[in-house]
Amino acid sequence: MKRSLLTLAAVLALAAPTALVHAQATKPATNTSKLKVGLMLPATGTFAALGTAIENGFKLYITEQGGKLSGREIEFFKVDDESDPSKATDNVNKLIKRDNVDVLVGSVHSGVAMAMARVAKDSGTLLIVPNAGADAVTGPMCAVNIFRSSFSNWQPGFAMGQVVAAKGHKRVVTIAWKYAAGDESVKGFKESFEKAGGQVIKELGLPFPNVEFQALLTEIAAIKPDAVYTFFAGGGAVKFVKDYAAAGLKRTIPLYGAGFLTDGTLEAQGADAEGVLTTLHYGDSLTVPRDAAFRLAYAKTFKLQPDVYAVQGYDAAQMLGIGLAAVKGDLSKKAEFAAALRKAKIDSPRGAFTLNAAHNPVQDIYLRQVLGKENKVIGVASKSLADPGRGCRM
Ligand code: PHB
Repeated sequence: MKRSLLTLAAVLALAAPTALVHAQATKPATNTSKLKVGLMLPATGTFAALGTAIENGFKLYITEQGGKLSGREIEFFKVDDESDPSKATDNVNKLIKRDNVDVLVGSVHSGVAMAMARVAKDSGTLLIVPNAGADAVTGPMCAVNIFRSSFSNWQPGFAMGQVVAAKGHKRVVTIAWKYAAGDESVKGFKESFEKAGGQVIKELGLPFPNVEFQALLTEIAAIKPDAVYTFFAGGGAVKFVKDYAAAGLKRTIPLYGAGFLTDGTLEAQGADAEGVLTTLHYGDSLTVPRDAAFRLAYAKTFKLQPDVYAVQGYDAAQMLGIGLAAVKGDLSKKAEFAAALRKAKIDSPRGAFTLNAAHNPVQDIYLRQVLGKENKVIGVASKSLADPGRGCRM
């Protein structure tokens, strides 16, 4: 026994210096190969326009940097995730195993993002989430290589609960898609609203991406609550706002929502959205210098007005740039990459933000009101709001 231990020690002592020399010899001083970015976003379905805005925003930042980050040219690989969680694991594995991407950027839908986070955690691949708010991604699923440039579902909901309570509403009905994003948005709302003395008297829901709202709107009319809180986005949000007005509810029961309800949707919603109050980390009339420059560049490049999704895509690219600069383009240095982002102040068009310990933005949540074709910022609903990051152990 003693002898074999000694032998083992001798072998290790001999092998160690050799291994070290070998590692040093094969490691390049700086990595100048192309950086492969896997964009996993919806190109079809109710969230298609959101995916386009994220990609536009991301690419705008890369173009502003001359097409390179830390000296590495960027090469894009894309999959349409269809906002379908059941296809998400296969889709993310295509990017990792077939395309060999260095970084994953995605997605919009919370269920898809959770599948991506699972794979990212297991494989160690860097993941930046440019929209999906799934609380778990920066909660129990948090990891050194997972970051979010957007929000947690809890954030806009929690901020709106305080606003609706301050308006004096007591009895509120909620209506949302029944999946992580809708459920968690309502949960955040309920947490602060009930703490302030209000009561959620009924939680209505329908499966994503259904838009058959009629029976539920009839139920709301019968209950006659003081107000309604809602989570819908993209094409579904357009239809919900129009159906709410057509049912005659807009005149009698005030409608509140997480800001996705009216972001990137106002052209299609028209007068039916007028006056609606929402909470979000972005708006159309900010006086942030970085926002003015961003909006001008975005409109010029894409012949489109930017929205919250475009900002989140832009900031995902900025975050990648900050991390890469700190590790001189070497993504294997995960702890250093994360350390740089944890201490960074990210100069976003929404206003500067930082990350909490679980890598979710700590940011102002604005109160906005639809006026014409704008989500006009009329105040700050919650200053520097940090997601509690419940369940995150890193
Ligand atoms: C989500 O699924 O997390 C989600 C989707 C669309 C939004 C916001 C959140 O606009």
